[in-house]
Amino acid sequence: MRRNIVAGNWKMNLSFELADDLVNDIAEKLDSVELNADVVICPPFPYLELTSDLAQESNFFAGAQNVASFDNGAYTGEVSSKMLASMNVDYCIVGHSERRKYFNETNQEIATKITKLLKDDIKPIFCLGEVLEERESGKHFDVVQKQLEESLFNLTSQEILNVVIAYEPVWAIGTGKTATSLQAQEMHAFIRSLLDKKYGNEVAEEISILYGGSCNAKNAKELFANKDVDGGLIGGASLKAEDFLAIIKSF
Ligand code: 13P
Repeated sequence: MRRNIVAGNWKMNLSFELADDLVNDIAEKLDSVELNADVVICPPFPYLELTSDLAQESNFFAGAQNVASFDNGAYTGEVSSKMLASMNVDYCIVGHSERRKYFNETNQEIATKITKLLKDDIKPIFCLGEVLEERESGKHFDVVQKQLEESLFNLTSQEILNVVIAYEPVWAIGTGKTATSLQAQEMHAFIRSLLDKKYGNEVAEEISILYGGSCNAKNAKELFANKDVDGGLIGGASLKAEDFLAIIKSF
């Protein structure tokens, strides 16, 4: 049975003090909730120890937002998968559209990062999705297929079972313009059909596909009710414990 997952991507937000308050607040609230989803919290790098330590004794998993595509050495400012593993990080977001846009990450570089994470037993949360122009010109399925094939399809069946996919239409990120339930389900079913063709039905059915893009406490229930939507990758709404909890409780 594939897992339901709700992951919070804090992006480049919060001071150390606010991050400390937020993660403790979430951990405390999670204690009194009957969970039907795995919860992942992905803070900025400097706060990782805070969340990964607390994750050891709480009902959530520690995640990171990025990883280097190199192993170690003279790469100023980078953080390797081995470093993340040594801090008990369980998940790592890769290929987020903000990294593709501002840091020119390519499908090939993302593939390298995914391979490194898997080697160090960290589950990649691989993001893909089209920009508005691509949707409006009807190219969204082709774009997503290319991202999927170029970043994931070099993996074996055994490896891909440890990958989580997050469909994040770029036009929905931080805009308040959520994909409709129908648009989300349609793309998730398409992604699963490609996984089925490449790896077979049994593998395709095991892989969690999350939705991301203005997902909030109000729309999560409807989005998560779709057959192929296995949870969410949450930006803005993961910065408030109550909103994040409400999303988690939508399962
Ligand atoms: P928002 O939920 O703020 O739209 O961000 C989504 C996202 O990019 C999560 O990775």
